[in-house]
Amino acid sequence: MVDLFFELVGPNYPLAKAEITAAIEGLSYDYKIDRSDPGVLSLSTDCPVKSLAQRLGLTHRIYREISKSSGEDFSDLEGDLDLPTGSAAVRTRRIENHRGDTQAIKEKLGEMISSNHSIDLDSPDHELCVIISEKNYVGKKLYEMERENFKSRDGKNRPFSYPISLKPRYTRALINLTRAEKKAKVHDPFCGTGGVLIEAYLMGLDVSGGDKDSKMIEGCRKNLREFDVEASLEVGDVAETIPKDIDCIATDPPYGRASSTSKEGLSSLYERLFRISEERLKKGGYLSAIFPGLDYVAIGKEYLELIETYKIRVHRSLDRHFTVFKKI
Ligand SMILES: C[S@@+](CC[C@H](N)C(=O)[O-])C[C@H]1O[C@@H](n2cnc3c(N)ncnc32)[C@H](O)[C@@H]1O
Repeated sequence: MVDLFFELVGPNYPLAKAEITAAIEGLSYDYKIDRSDPGVLSLSTDCPVKSLAQRLGLTHRIYREISKSSGEDFSDLEGDLDLPTGSAAVRTRRIENHRGDTQAIKEKLGEMISSNHSIDLDSPDHELCVIISEKNYVGKKLYEMERENFKSRDGKNRPFSYPISLKPRYTRALINLTRAEKKAKVHDPFCGTGGVLIEAYLMGLDVSGGDKDSKMIEGCRKNLREFDVEASLEVGDVAETIPKDIDCIATDPPYGRASSTSKEGLSSLYERLFRISEERLKKGGYLSAIFPGLDYVAIGKEYLELIETYKIRVHRSLDRHFTVFKKI
């Protein structure tokens, strides 16, 4: 197994960590968690790093781990950084307000690599990074998930937008929590402007969506065209559009404004979602959805097995609970 560490998107680190392990499970690999600190998760796995990098939303960068140290001496490295030939640069990143003399660390590591590698700070062949959290994580950067890439698909940058669309990075976490296997079929019964469908398609999944509002489906079609996404869409209530024996359901249901639920109470709407998910999911399939309170999550336990839930604070009066259920 290869030792990796992941530099996480803050501030919701437990969700970012859960996304990584769920994605590895979905890709059918084992993993062993080595250590978890604010902003960093370190684990060993045989999962191909490229496949993970294509999926993850709440990770900035993935590294092959070279060392973890508690101070600035890096004595465990002893000159052997296992870096192939080529030019190199050392970068440091501090998580939150963790202390550490970044300049001293850079100089020390720079000195160690300079005997075998030329230093090129602009376009090095290899980037050696030190992430300063509870420990100093030293690694070679393998992949970087480009911020601009996600930004280009933000709700406001799509031809048809709606004020409450989930950000693409969080949408990916929602989808990865379903442990979707390669090319799995994923359905979103409250697809709205199509955020889940766009990200799931770009992750290599087979996607379909439904929404009771025909104007939403019309707008969603425009968005799918913009990003070259192929998906089957249907106007219909949540009880009507979910295909039989579906692998996964990933959805961001309405969470409060009476207008978007046709005045149906949220408890009733969510209960219908749970009941129909239990009926349509294949055995072992997952529902990953966001709810505005744990009372609603409790309703789901009547129908499906609760696997995990993560609270995200949106603003003072709104928390959202990313929640995963399994059909057993
Ligand atoms: C929070 S929005 C979905 C946001 C979506 N993730 C996006 O990226 O735009 C909820 C959607 O659920 C739809 N909806 C509300 N009640 C529904 C029902 N009973 N069946 C199906 N869709 C429904 C609304 O029309 C709305 O488009």
